Amino acid sequence: MPRIEWSDKLSVKVNVFDNEHKKLIDMFNRLHDAMSQGQGKDVLAEILVELSDYTKTHFGHEEDAMKKYDYPGLAGHRKAHEEFISKLTDAQVQYNNGSTVLSIPMLDLLWSWVQNHIKKIDQSYSDFFIKHGVK
Ligand code: FEO
Repeated sequence: MPRIEWSDKLSVKVNVFDNEHKKLIDMFNRLHDAMSQGQGKDVLAEILVELSDYTKTHFGHEEDAMKKYDYPGLAGHRKAHEEFISKLTDAQVQYNNGSTVLSIPMLDLLWSWVQNHIKKIDQSYSDFFIKHGVK
């Protein structure tokens, strides 16, 4: 799995959410680097916790804004967030209970999900938030 570089192709045209996505990408890259460098279990577990906490924070921010402006796609978007949190929690449990090596397929799955979520589901709110002056 390669490192991920943020680009305009991932932009949702809302600065506050682009910045949060950049932070999430940075955490994935740190996890990637730590794995590549063979860092210890404690380091990887710490990054996973940080990633999980920040993902929940970010999802909350998006959902709060959707509620505030009565975004019609809120229910579906929230469901997608819940599915991802579930996958991330599974990865944490698997890692904490399993081998000392974090599952590459699991990390790959998580990262693919994030990219697809940003490019498809998140980007579909761009016009709505721009219209409501969210920056
Ligand atoms: Fe940026 Fe819907 O997560």
